[in-house]
Amino acid sequence: MTQELTLKFDPNTIEHLGISLYSKLPSVISELVSNSWDADAGNVCINFIDDASEKEIHYRDDGHGMTFDELNEKYLMIGRNRRKDDGAQETPNGRKIIGKKGLGKLSVFGICNEVEIRTVKDGIENRFSMDIDDIKKSQRNSYNPTILSLNKSVSDASGTEIWLRRVKRKSDFKPHDIAMGLSKKFLIFDRLKTTIKHNSTNDVPVTNELKFSNFKEEFKWEFPSKDIGGDEYRYWEDVKGSIITLETPIKDTEMKGIYLTSRGKIVNNAGFYGLRDTDQFHTYVTGYLEVDFIDDLEEDLISTDRHSLNWEHDVTRELQDYLQRIIKKVGAEWRKKRGQRKVNDINKKTGLDINQWEEGLPTY
Ligand SMILES: Nc1ncnc2c1ncn2[C@@H]1O[C@H](COP(=O)(O)OP(=O)(O)OP(=O)(O)O)[C@@H](O)[C@H]1O
Ligand SMILES: [Mg+2]
Repeated sequence: MTQELTLKFDPNTIEHLGISLYSKLPSVISELVSNSWDADAGNVCINFIDDASEKEIHYRDDGHGMTFDELNEKYLMIGRNRRKDDGAQETPNGRKIIGKKGLGKLSVFGICNEVEIRTVKDGIENRFSMDIDDIKKSQRNSYNPTILSLNKSVSDASGTEIWLRRVKRKSDFKPHDIAMGLSKKFLIFDRLKTTIKHNSTNDVPVTNELKFSNFKEEFKWEFPSKDIGGDEYRYWEDVKGSIITLETPIKDTEMKGIYLTSRGKIVNNAGFYGLRDTDQFHTYVTGYLEVDFIDDLEEDLISTDRHSLNWEHDVTRELQDYLQRIIKKVGAEWRKKRGQRKVNDINKKTGLDINQWEEGLPTY
């Protein structure tokens, strides 16, 4: 008899993937938003309900929806790489596809125990629910969601709705904080109109600019820039965006430093890429830089939680060097500009030209 070894997957894996990777509300919702983006949706509405006996979140998009077969072959397949499987990097509407790992749908189990999905594609509705406790009890490495509606003809437009039920959170939802959290994670809201509701009212629009709304900008550097970092790095022209400094130190620690994005979604939290965090400049600087070329590489350098790129790779190391160089250069310019602004301010207030006054001082 031949002996064999078998690698088995416990259904608990699903909970671990959901819970351990996504426990914060904006991270979970950001997975749903990415999926709506990939479905060519133009609108997303998320209603946070906490005035009922049980907290609930109702998410809705007007994307292309899914057929029954697509639910089985795409939605319910864990770890499917859609870009490889479909061989497409772009959606029918020409958006660069964000999804890659086939794990995003599990994120909901980081914050709730039950989900119901209703999806309509070309006038055909399918609806089903999944319960994390039943998934954990399931045998033979598979689980059959409860079908609530199968290939039913409806007059609704295409789109997907998700109800997150038995939400684990105890405290009340804070729609403005959630909107802010979501805004920080994307640069796509000019093309995907996203609205947050709280108990079906109080529309809060999520915009790209919201992340900067509490800031008073002082100086701005746009990239790519020939003067700063130009020609020093083979991808310098592909690193796009801006670095901004504020008039006063940044209070929101999540915004200190430079975020990196690919395909409009963050791939690295705000940071200084290995630079020592003792520089005073670091408390004044924020920004977003797009590094989409990272997504085109054969190797996947984007971590599942998208908090940090894999920096142990030749391409990312080179990027890290470049980022350090431009941050240092911007820091040096900032010190100069800020010094000059102080001189100008004194001049405006007192009519005194500090430089001239300094020159006029005796030299002994
Ligand atoms: N709102 C939606 N509308 C249409 N199709 C969807 C929607 N959400 C998910 N899907 C389909 O289900 C699949 C699985 O989604 P999931 O988020 O798990 O993986 P992914 O988006 O492919 O990759 P990633 O793990 O990087 O998010 C998607 O590839 C897509 O085909
Ligand atoms: Mg996804």
